[in-house]
Amino acid sequence: MQVKTLILGAGAAGMMCAAHAGGDTLVVDHAKAPGEKIRISGGGRCNFTNMYAGPENFLSGNPHFCKSALSRYTQWDFIDLVARHGIAYHEKTLGQLFCDESSKDIIQMLLSELRNAGADLWLKTSILSVTRSDGVFEVSLDKDGTTITVTAQNLVLATGGKSIPKMGATGLAYDLARQFGLNVTETRAGLVPFTFSDGRFKALSGVALPVQASLPSTSFDEALLFTHRGLSGPSVLQISSYWREGQKVAFDLYPQGGLYEALRAKRTEDGRKNLSTILAQFIPAKLVDFLAKDLALSGNIADQSDAKLRALTDAVHTWHLTPSGTEGYRTAEVTLGGIDTDALSSKTMEAKSVPGLYAIGEAVDVTGWLGGFNFQWAWSSGFAAGTAI
Ligand code: FDA
Repeated sequence: MQVKTLILGAGAAGMMCAAHAGGDTLVVDHAKAPGEKIRISGGGRCNFTNMYAGPENFLSGNPHFCKSALSRYTQWDFIDLVARHGIAYHEKTLGQLFCDESSKDIIQMLLSELRNAGADLWLKTSILSVTRSDGVFEVSLDKDGTTITVTAQNLVLATGGKSIPKMGATGLAYDLARQFGLNVTETRAGLVPFTFSDGRFKALSGVALPVQASLPSTSFDEALLFTHRGLSGPSVLQISSYWREGQKVAFDLYPQGGLYEALRAKRTEDGRKNLSTILAQFIPAKLVDFLAKDLALSGNIADQSDAKLRALTDAVHTWHLTPSGTEGYRTAEVTLGGIDTDALSSKTMEAKSVPGLYAIGEAVDVTGWLGGFNFQWAWSSGFAAGTAI
């Protein structure tokens, strides 16, 4: 069988690419259903883009690489598409747009775009081998137990990253990129909870509060959530993408500011209250109990000097923790690193050294922050390749 374009992976990027690559396009995926990560994303409502998406929201070996694709297919283009399909949506927070009803609406929208463009989709199809001769790709597939060979002028790697192997994530895109001589940068789990081998936060499981999580390179002001295994919540997921093993993370447990002044006022108004009781008016009581020893929280607030209140405030603003590790690909929302952007055209996503070979989406070394940025990269890079084909 012969097609002009064969797209490996019917996820966010692959379907978007197919919708723009036009007829004579075949998309194949080993899963039973397309866009499984879209389906489970955003708690079933898919945070499909971010109103404030820009190149600064992405990590990559080359921070400039994503600029071209993001500017040629923006969040507003995708929002237009969503609106054209009559899908109702809302902003949850920080520019994050979610479906009102279900993430399945986004999958249906992409499927109808793909079909309108004349592309075909084969599910439950495994990729057995890929070769290239005389400028044509020859791909051997297993469809329902039958081996089928497809030849294609263009081959698009859209099989995503390694996160959540239980959902069928594989390193296929990286293996194929290497097979064709493309460099693949070190991959690791991103947007992932931190673990602590001593289980020290078990008693705090479920406690949440707004924090600022910082590393020397960056910081995020979002919620922190204690879990049985360690730390999660948006601030932790965000900072995890910048974290390296052994690094200390600083948490400001009262980023709202003004704690020192507030404690001094309480000393005057409520002097006979215990220091812990007073502090629990600003940060969750369970966390105050947990920190009581470290923060030397004993005595009434009336007995605390300015210097002691200052030291306490400083400690609340700079709580340092060194995670043992992360939950890894098992729960990570994304894979950092991937197909080296140096090997690709930023305009078309085509491999510079292999005409007709394209790489898009999470497989490429471009990773977004939490908040709809990763899907925006899938839409923008899928569009770039699809329109170039
Ligand atoms: P994607 O993973 O979507 O698709 C790859 C496809 O390739 C899959 O269909 C897979 O079955 C197929 N495939 C893989 N290996 C194969 C093989 N060997 N043979 C055949 N097929 C193969 N992002 C965001 O912006 N907003 C959000 O709300 C969320 N929420 C979220 C929740 C959770 C739990 C996760 C795990 C991730 C998110 N993300 C997110 C991230 C987002 O889902 C991710 O960045 C995109 O889906 C990446 O799109 P791709 O098309 O590149 O890969």
